[in-house]
Amino acid sequence: MKAYQVICKRRSIRRFKQKVLTLKFLKKVVNAARLAPSGANLQPLEYICIDDRRLGDDIFKTLAWAGYISPRGTPAEGERPVAYILVLVNTLVRKDNYQYDVGAAMENMILTAGDEGVGACWIGSINRPELSKALNIPPAFVIDSILALGYPKENPKVEKLTDSCKYWKDANRRLHVPKRDIDSIMRVNKF
Ligand SMILES: Cc1cc2nc3c(=O)[nH]c(=O)nc-3n(C[C@H](O)[C@H](O)[C@H](O)COP(=O)(O)O)c2cc1C
Repeated sequence: MKAYQVICKRRSIRRFKQKVLTLKFLKKVVNAARLAPSGANLQPLEYICIDDRRLGDDIFKTLAWAGYISPRGTPAEGERPVAYILVLVNTLVRKDNYQYDVGAAMENMILTAGDEGVGACWIGSINRPELSKALNIPPAFVIDSILALGYPKENPKVEKLTDSCKYWKDANRRLHVPKRDIDSIMRVNKF
């Protein structure tokens, strides 16, 4: 697929088929993160791929899903992510202003997955102390974000944002995601 097509098709996915993702695939996704832009080229980010289902269950317990519609957006048993990629910041390399690096790396990973038909959800609501403990993360490393992955079992729809940015689910459990209209955000040559 062309990059722009993947970008336009992408939606956060929170219901997943239970088809396994290979380590080779996860390595390709992390490689896309590795090659992302990095402020001062410091590259403070490191990654942990989790494809072990039991460990996946431990991680799932530390995450919060789709706050606006909770608990209806939380993946049900049998629809949970089949893999995760944790994004860690090595604070010995960079203590602050690493969020731009994380953004670039996450989007590279999401789009690489999307190009292979794999859905993803960027998760920032994490019980970090609990997860750090579960995975034995050294103190110098901060957990910034997690990418939840799996083949999509839902097909969210983009809507034109009118009065609220809150996404919603309809009676058929389809997620609708309001986005601002292009003409409301783009100006030409003057404000
Ligand atoms: C920094 C960041 C943190 C996010 N954290 C969560 C989260 O903790 N749980 C969740 O279900 N979705 C999370 N999301 C996904 C957003 O809810 C989602 O991007 C937004 O609703 C728009 O939907 P879309 O990704 O389909 O365009 C996060 C997204 C970003 C960029």
